[in-house]
Amino acid sequence: METFWKSPSNIALIKYWGKYDPQLPANPSISFTLSACHTETRVAALPCEKQNDVQFEIYFEGIKTPAFAPKIAAFFKRVAHLVPWVYDYSFSIYTQNSFPHSSGIASSASGMSALALCLTDFHQELGNDLDNPRQFASELARLGSGSAARSVYGGLVVWGKHNDLPTSSDVFAVPYELPVHAEFNSFQDVVLLVEKGQKETSSTAGHGLMHGHPFAERRFQQAHENMKRLMPILKTGDLEGFGEIVESEALTLHALMMTSQPNFILMKPNTLAILEHIRQFRKETKIPAYFTLDAGANVHYLFPEKDKQKVMTFVTEKLLAYCKNSEYICDFVGQGPKSL
Ligand code: PMV
Repeated sequence: METFWKSPSNIALIKYWGKYDPQLPANPSISFTLSACHTETRVAALPCEKQNDVQFEIYFEGIKTPAFAPKIAAFFKRVAHLVPWVYDYSFSIYTQNSFPHSSGIASSASGMSALALCLTDFHQELGNDLDNPRQFASELARLGSGSAARSVYGGLVVWGKHNDLPTSSDVFAVPYELPVHAEFNSFQDVVLLVEKGQKETSSTAGHGLMHGHPFAERRFQQAHENMKRLMPILKTGDLEGFGEIVESEALTLHALMMTSQPNFILMKPNTLAILEHIRQFRKETKIPAYFTLDAGANVHYLFPEKDKQKVMTFVTEKLLAYCKNSEYICDFVGQGPKSL
């Protein structure tokens, strides 16, 4: 059997930060699925004698990369109760990212979702009927990396149970089910690469620090509240309301890291300089362009497509000075994974 998927990264608007076993989220989150930042993964599976361990080799950008093996092996083990046939096959995995590996952009969401989609194809090919293959892929992806659960659909995607979203679940992500203003379907995300290379703290460690965190319970409640506040905003296209929640969520994520034990400061002086410029530009021009952050120093700059020209002039003239080697990635809300 062989299959090939291209799967995108995503950027959370309401952040997932805190989890409990088996990789279930402590609060609901919502993200934009991106497009330009993606992973392409081809998997070939050959029947083999049943083993105690999953048999596979992994090639990254054409080169055998055993350094990735522990993560992939852990993933196979975690999903084996859903796809028990994995012990009967030996896998060759060929994977590559559209963005540089060392760019500081997390590849776990795109990488794990691509692999999950490949396993879902095999699962069906082996005669297992699935009512909702994407939902199954999302559940598998979640077990690889929480945020990867959201990458199996395009547009706005929710992961984690929220009372006002009946289809939402902790076990898998679902497409956002309420009305969305057209403006959000073509939102832009310019990723400003402040820092490249490995992050200092893995998100796994960060999630762990939410256990016993003094603000944990209030934070989880706040995420529910922010989700509820965001619903009418997404419907009416209230960009100011959108930006207020999104920027607050980004700063809350970093505040949680700064107040955990041990604590982490992942923003760099250049991150803060960019945030200040973004706010100043908004004040002066009234253009509704907002920042968000993931667990690192890079800035995601979100704005409507119609403002692209003016914002990009500002990015080039003011913000690139704070990026490593003036590097950035132009991304936008995408349609989700594609079978290749
Ligand atoms: O999927 P993980 O375990 O790498 O966690 C991702 C957490 C954030 O990117 C910071 C937030 C999110 O919801 O994507």
